[in-house]
Amino acid sequence: MSAPMMSRSWVLGAVAVWLALAGQTAALGEEAKPGAAACLECHDTWDAGRLDSFSRSAHGQQSCLDCHTGMAEYPHTTAPAGPFASCVGCHENAAKGFAGSVHRIAGLQGVKAFQKDCKACHGEPHVMTKRAPGQEPEDVCSRCHENKAMQSRLGLPTAVWKSYESSVHGQKRMLGSKKSPGCVDCHGSHRITSPASAASELSLANRAQVCARCHEGATRMFSLTFSHDPIDDKHAPAATLVSRIYSALIVFTLLFFGAMIALELFSLVARKLLRRPLPHPHIDPEERFTRSQRVQHFVIILTFVALVLTGLPLLAGSLDSETRLLALFGGVETAALVHRVAGTLMILATLWHIGWLWGLNVRGQMPLSMMPALDDFIEFREQVRTFLLLRDEAPKRAGKYGWIEKVEYWAFAWGLGVMGLTGLMLWFPVAAAAWLPKGGLFIVQLVHGFEAILATASVFLWHFYQVHLKPGFFPMNWTWLTGKEK
Ligand code: HEC
Ligand code: HEC
Ligand code: HEC
Ligand code: HEC
Ligand code: HEC
Ligand code: HEC
Ligand code: HEC
Repeated sequence: MSAPMMSRSWVLGAVAVWLALAGQTAALGEEAKPGAAACLECHDTWDAGRLDSFSRSAHGQQSCLDCHTGMAEYPHTTAPAGPFASCVGCHENAAKGFAGSVHRIAGLQGVKAFQKDCKACHGEPHVMTKRAPGQEPEDVCSRCHENKAMQSRLGLPTAVWKSYESSVHGQKRMLGSKKSPGCVDCHGSHRITSPASAASELSLANRAQVCARCHEGATRMFSLTFSHDPIDDKHAPAATLVSRIYSALIVFTLLFFGAMIALELFSLVARKLLRRPLPHPHIDPEERFTRSQRVQHFVIILTFVALVLTGLPLLAGSLDSETRLLALFGGVETAALVHRVAGTLMILATLWHIGWLWGLNVRGQMPLSMMPALDDFIEFREQVRTFLLLRDEAPKRAGKYGWIEKVEYWAFAWGLGVMGLTGLMLWFPVAAAAWLPKGGLFIVQLVHGFEAILATASVFLWHFYQVHLKPGFFPMNWTWLTGKEK
């Protein structure tokens, strides 16, 4: 074969292969995406997989030329429109909103993530999909504003995410509330501006209008109750002080209760070993709870349990078990309703108790049996001495009620007052913000949470021990059902 012959057959062969390949690509393109074939003849990085994911994207029904306007001819006479201009024709609001945003400005100033505009949040234009059902809009923001590495690379404020998550908004949203705002409900999804600029919807002057979308009648004072500031000595000295005091109070209370229980158990075991049993504990043969008192106590039991079950999950965040617990109540909104109904009933039960006392007072029969007295301290001292085996007599209650009952009664009264008052303020935050100092509502929220922990822990540790597990009473002290201890 001569050299020219050889080269001619090589060319023919190449053309045949090219035709075959081109035909295949065209077929691939036509099948998967009408109109795409013309482009795929040259843009061979578009294989079947890529075409497939494009077809399944939000723009699977759009043709290549919808975004790549004017690129039908080759050589291409128009430069690619660029990400922003490719979108504005169909998504005018989003594109124009984004055009004036901090993010766009960041892109212009050299922040790489935003140099491809929409891509920073929506991803590759050929694969971006509509928001999937489980996806929240804030999942987009978290990529930069929650991610520590991105925060330091982009120089972003670091307290933003945590402050949101610890707000009532964040807590409820993580538990599935759709009414509670995510980032975009306050900041918008595209026209996001710096709250420091006067033109921003969230500037100090305009902020109340954003809150008023959900909180009717929101005032400027109210609008200041939310902030992303970190909760530290510099930004929120009062709140950190309250946190410390309450933490100490909780630790002290639980240590005290725990120590008393441990002492009692110690004495029980030691007395068994040393064969120094105590005479039976003193059991009151008289009626200790009247029927009215038993009903009051019953209302308190039911409402307390309902309040704990519907309230504590907010403090625990987005754990699955809490979500399931709330599902018991038909979801986070129904749980909020149950919480309010239970809170109201508890307050009514308290008013009933006060009214009942008042009635007795008017008739000159005010019982003073719950009043703390010096005898209570003596009883307490005797009890400790008995526990320490320094004494071999069961301690006697000083009056009808002993120090344990009095501690429970007054601790409960304190807890109820604190929870009722702070609960009402959180229920009507706009009204409360009108007369609380700046930052006050946040402290109210803190107190409500800490006191809830204190009350729950005390009831389950101390009260349950005293009325159920305590030696001599197990399985229970019957007063709450029969009115008498045995
Ligand atoms: C005949 C071959 C050919 C066809 C057909 C073709 N292109 Fe191109 N295209 C190219 C080449 C070569 C380049 C790179 C050089 C240039 O920009 O001219 C390019 C560049 C591009 C770019 C810019 C790429 C970049 O990295 O910035 C886009 C976008 C593009 N083409 C889209 C299309 C679309 C959409 C179609 C179908 C309507 C199409 N092309 C059809 C050959 C082609
Ligand atoms: C929703 C609008 C949109 C549609 C529809 C679209 N593109 Fe693109 N395409 C873009 C954008 C925006 C870019 C630039 C991306 C970048 O700069 O990162 C791009 C980039 C490209 C590029 C260059 C870079 C690359 O990824 O290869 C090619 C080639 C291309 N598109 C081809 C196509 C073809 C072929 C189709 C149809 C099957 C198509 N595009 C459909 C928006 C679109
Ligand atoms: C030719 C018109 C057109 C162009 C140009 C276009 N889109 Fe779209 N876009 C659509 C249509 C139609 C939908 C699907 C809407 C639907 O199904 O509800 C869509 C959906 C979307 C969605 C999903 C919205 C949702 O409901 O979750 C996003 C995000 C999006 N486009 C971004 C872009 C971006 C970014 C660009 C530019 C790169 C762009 N689009 C260019 C028409 C277009
Ligand atoms: C800072 C992140 C971010 C950037 C940048 C961004 N988007 Fe979005 N976009 C979102 C979020 C978040 C949503 C979802 C909003 C929602 O569901 O409430 C969204 C939703 C959309 C939707 C659905 C309809 C709507 O308006 O809610 C379209 C269309 C859209 N974006 C287009 C664009 C286009 C076009 C660009 C570029 C010009 C762009 N987006 C840039 C975050 C962004
Ligand atoms: C790709 C990373 C990225 C994503 C995603 C992102 N941001 Fe940003 N954001 C930035 C950067 C970078 C800045 C800093 C701009 C500046 O300070 O110049 C910024 C600034 C802001 C600011 C103004 C901060 C200030 O100090 O004034 C707000 C508000 C904001 N982002 C909210 C959001 C919201 C809401 C979302 C989700 C819809 C979001 N961002 C998604 C990177 C991101
Ligand atoms: C209840 C409305 C609301 C929600 C929800 C909200 N923000 Fe803000 N955000 C504000 C207000 C008001 C400011 C200005 C006051 C401040 O900085 O504390 C602000 C400020 C910011 C700033 C600037 C902070 C700074 O120190 O410069 C960023 C960034 C930001 N928000 C991002 C987010 C992100 C991301 C989310 C979602 C996790 C979010 N925001 C949720 C209202 C909100
Ligand atoms: C998208 C709606 C929405 C927006 C916007 C909004 N909130 Fe809220 N906010 C809620 C919901 C829902 C709750 C939870 C109320 C409940 O538990 O019943 C809440 C609770 C609160 C609470 C706690 C009260 C409580 O019930 O425990 C405060 C304080 C608060 N918001 C302040 C603000 C401030 C300040 C703004 C404006 C910067 C704002 N909110 C914007 C929906 C919103």
